[in-house]
Formats: sequence, structure tokens, C-alpha cells
Amino acid sequence: MKLIIAANWKMHKTAAEAASFCNQLTLQEKKFTGVEVLVCPPFTALAATAAALEGSAVKLGAQNMSWEVKGAYTGEIAPQMLKEFGVGHVILGHSERRHIFGEDDAAIRKKLERALHDELVPILCIGETEEQRNRGETGAVLERQLRAALEGLEPENIKELIVAYEPVWAIGTGQAASPDDAADAASLARAVVEKILGSETGATLRVQYGGSVNADNIGGFVSLSPVNGALVGGASLQADSFAALIMAAREAAGC
Ligand code: PGA
Repeated sequence: MKLIIAANWKMHKTAAEAASFCNQLTLQEKKFTGVEVLVCPPFTALAATAAALEGSAVKLGAQNMSWEVKGAYTGEIAPQMLKEFGVGHVILGHSERRHIFGEDDAAIRKKLERALHDELVPILCIGETEEQRNRGETGAVLERQLRAALEGLEPENIKELIVAYEPVWAIGTGQAASPDDAADAASLARAVVEKILGSETGATLRVQYGGSVNADNIGGFVSLSPVNGALVGGASLQADSFAALIMAAREAAGC
């Protein structure tokens, strides 16, 4: 299964900074063969990023979007506004959206349905908090989040689905999950998706790990077959180190 390494820049980079990053990254992209690479800038940098990526195989994603198509929703961004710039992927239910901005499972479900309907590939983020992990609830939490987002959907409407397993306690802390724990969570996610949506969707599903991934530890994750890539925050902000991370992933996964 092709690895997908995604940069989640969060609230970093002006349009000019994003363009300069992409100009540097694409100089090295010949070395990324076999890996799908995605950058997810802030909305205001989408146009500049899209222009800088023209002619490149590096893809463009968004960090969030509205479940509505248009209307009186101050501050929201509709799917077609993203697609206008060539956005093909959208991160949904990131833990910062869930925990800082109060997005609940019901909101994430509506966004996911909208993304599928509008042919954007959802990167559905799931993950347990430290307290839930300490109480031994990781599996139950991941299953609940997946069921809330996916149960009842028609498998034939899902052309592509990516799940990002991102333990909340590992995001931005420098304390990544162990590769074995990430692989266990990824296997569980795949099993739940298969149960809900059938084996065909399960077979094409890609599961990323996210949470303090860097060039030094990425190899441990992607060398285990349940993990099909990474969602990278802090270590995706510098073009050279992000390129090094992609190459380390490629080498470890043997692609
Ligand atoms: P991090 O963020 O790599 O900085 O931990 C990952 C994410 O939030 O997607």
C-alpha cells in the first residue's frame, strides 16, 4: 500500500512562507518516488501553495472545512472553496479541533459526509487522551470515534478513506507512541472499518500515525505494515527536515 506522508502546518506560515517552503520541497521531490506527499496549509496560504506546487506531484490538502455548502456561516470555509484551489484531501476531527474548538463526533460526521459527497478524501483523525489511555480505554475510544463517523455510510460512496491515529498525549509533546502501539491501533482501526463498511473499504483504507513524528522515528512506524504513513505537525514546518523525514520513511518501508 502506498505510503502517505502529510504535513499539517496548523496555524503556521503566511502565503509567502508557504510558497517558499514548496519551492524548496519540490527541488527534492525526485527522491520521494513511491510516497504520496501532501501539504495542508492554512486557508489563507492555499492559493500560494497551489501555485508553488504546479507541475509537482506533491498534493494539496486542507486542515478543516464546513459541512455546509454555502450560506450565513461567518468564518467557515465550504468544500467548493477548497476545491477551487485543487485541494483533494481534508483533515477532519483533528484533536485540536475536538479539544480546543469543541468539535464533537456529530459535527465530524457531518463534515465527513460532506467531504465524501464532494469528492474530497477525508483524513479522519482519531485518538485517545492520556486519561483514557491510563484507564485502558484506548480501543473503546477509537472504536467509538470510528463508529460515530462511519456507521451507516454506503461503502460504494467511499472512493478513498484515510484514518489518522493520533493519540492526544503524543501531539506536539515530543513523546511519540511506540511503533508497536501505533501498529496495534492501526490494526484495530482497520478491523473496525472492515466491520462497519466491509472488506473492500477496509482493503483500500490507509492508516497514518501522528504525534511527534520526526525524521528519526518515522522509520519505526512505517516499517510495520499496519501503518501506511504519517500526519506530521512540528517536523513538517521546515522543507529540508520534512524532505529528510519522507526519505527516511521511504527507506524504512522499502518503497
Ligand atoms: P506533531 O503534530 O507532529 O507536532 O505532534 C501532529 C498533528 O497534530 O497532526
